[in-house]
Amino acid sequence: MNPALRDLVCGMPKAELHIHIEGSLEPELIFALAQRNGVALDYPDVESLRRAYAFTDLQSFLDIYYAGASVLLQRQDFYDMTWAYLERAHADRVRHVEMFFDPQTHTARGVPFAEVITGIKQALADAADRWGISGGLIMCFLRHLSEEDAMATLEQALPHRDSILGVGLDSSERGHPPEKFARVFTRCRELGLRLVAHAGEEGPPAYIESALDVLHVERIDHGVRCLEDAALVRRLAQSRIALTVCPLSNVKLRVFDKVGDHNLRQLLETGIVATVNSDDPAYFGGYINANFLAVFEVLGLGREHAHTLARNSFEAAFLPEPRKQQLLAEVDAWFA
Ligand code: HPA
Ligand code: ZN
Repeated sequence: MNPALRDLVCGMPKAELHIHIEGSLEPELIFALAQRNGVALDYPDVESLRRAYAFTDLQSFLDIYYAGASVLLQRQDFYDMTWAYLERAHADRVRHVEMFFDPQTHTARGVPFAEVITGIKQALADAADRWGISGGLIMCFLRHLSEEDAMATLEQALPHRDSILGVGLDSSERGHPPEKFARVFTRCRELGLRLVAHAGEEGPPAYIESALDVLHVERIDHGVRCLEDAALVRRLAQSRIALTVCPLSNVKLRVFDKVGDHNLRQLLETGIVATVNSDDPAYFGGYINANFLAVFEVLGLGREHAHTLARNSFEAAFLPEPRKQQLLAEVDAWFA
């Protein structure tokens, strides 16, 4: 790739809006935490764990992802994981991050909700002090579990309400449509939480529609299957409901066979507010700039696409207006 374009893309200010913090846990840290906490792993070493990262679909990934997260027990573990991600994000010129976390993955193992959230929050606070990175937490409900379980998790989160920006919906999509979580999302909306959901990754465009109509989400995570429905595409473009697209994830989980088949370019051409993100960077082969570079190289994207994608990332962020305008001005200055 043209080195000037490469530097432009890598150095542009950007927001990351689709990162599961548990998906940033690198194999080396998994083994270090397993040792620190006396947790037994099914893999003898880092190399054999990494070799298992050959996924055939979303579920085959989730099985390994939940096994990896089993080493997280103490507040310090959540801090170390989050700090490692933030160092990488800072190196990729991430100026704002909205980070998913999966409390049920931890509370189901007996880890107190407070240990999880206070560790993550402290790392975000330290990154804000050190680098001026702003951030927020989006608590995801696991859609393969029941709505009652999600509601109980929301109850546990209430003492930490002020530390939570919004809620989302992740895990196994097929067979678990958004409407399964209608009541818990209504409650979250009443609490003033921002709302997002994974939809249209493996699931059909109808799941994107029900996320909008039933859950009233303000962004769609993935959403790449929207192109199968022309009316939905027009709706997303007109309403400026953003998609948080994760190219390397989509290839690793076989949503597309190869980067060259990815539809990011078409999504941008329809006028949809698409953004580029890493999803689970430790598992999918790269952090946010690796995602940008993969699509820029293979899809033949250029300077204007870069400018649009950087602007989209801040436009789609749940930021107070002054900070949003400040970051958009940083983007425009970079491209001036
Ligand atoms: N999809 C659904 N659930 C997830 C993902 C994803 O890409 N990453 C972590 N949990
Ligand atoms: Zn995701």
